[in-house]
Amino acid sequence: MKVTVVGAGAVGASCAEYIALKNFASEVVLLDIKEGYAEGKAMDLMQTASLMGFDTKITGTTGDYAKTANSDIAVITSGIPRKPGMTREELIGINAGIVKTVATNIVQHSPNVILIVVSNPMDTMTYLAHKVTGLPKNRIIGMGGALDSARFKYFLSQALQCPQSDVDGIVLGMHSDTGMIPLTRLATRNSVPVTQFLSIDKLTQVLEDTKVGGATLTKLLGTSAWYAPGAAVSSMVQAIACDQKKLFPCSVLLEGEYGLSDLCIGAPAIIGKNGVEKIVEIALNDAENAKMKESATAVKGTNALLN
Ligand code: LAC
Repeated sequence: MKVTVVGAGAVGASCAEYIALKNFASEVVLLDIKEGYAEGKAMDLMQTASLMGFDTKITGTTGDYAKTANSDIAVITSGIPRKPGMTREELIGINAGIVKTVATNIVQHSPNVILIVVSNPMDTMTYLAHKVTGLPKNRIIGMGGALDSARFKYFLSQALQCPQSDVDGIVLGMHSDTGMIPLTRLATRNSVPVTQFLSIDKLTQVLEDTKVGGATLTKLLGTSAWYAPGAAVSSMVQAIACDQKKLFPCSVLLEGEYGLSDLCIGAPAIIGKNGVEKIVEIALNDAENAKMKESATAVKGTNALLN
């Protein structure tokens, strides 16, 4: 199993690290345009192998896509991250060109690849990857919902004062401060609805904290987060590599599901060796459906900026 990670910045390097630590891939290629940077990160990571006990071979390359040839999975993290006060949507001008070039180059060298898009604005970059590569729709997935759901579970566990392993919850919709839809109604603590433990006010706070989870970290760190994004992608890569058929909320191309089409937006999907193996339609209530429509309108608004 060969995995390419494009972009050796903090998210790409964390992703490569977690993939290696889980020891399921034979090879990870890190690619970056900054001279020597991917090579350096790869060498540093490889010098942890004997300490951390993994056999995954990590190599780096400065822009040589031939080295990524025949990758089974490629993760696109390239582009600029947001700075404090910026929205993800503001990155489109620079990141669209980068994602277009990267996706085209990757597919040229790895025609059977499954692409996972992380670059922001993520839903629009996933849609762009579909448009420029023409890959079958199951082979392009956007990462957002897996990360947003992990953040939702963190905030739920904080409010419930319980371990995260006790908590379950998912986030649908756009990967943006306003478009995320944490499904508080369906969140549970060991199968018990969280509404049994948390007041409406507390749950509303969890919901709001989740939606601005990335922005809060950007403010604290001065740049966008990397550990949880890297971990979210590595879990998706593992689900594909190991054919786990796990359910992740992630950005997928909809063709009628949820009454939406011609966009990529966060929805629950079964992820296995073929990428997106099934899009799961949850019965949403009227309020949730309305939020999904509103979120889709926002995604389409950002997609329109591609022209
Ligand atoms: C975040 C970026 C990766 O939410 O979008 O941290």
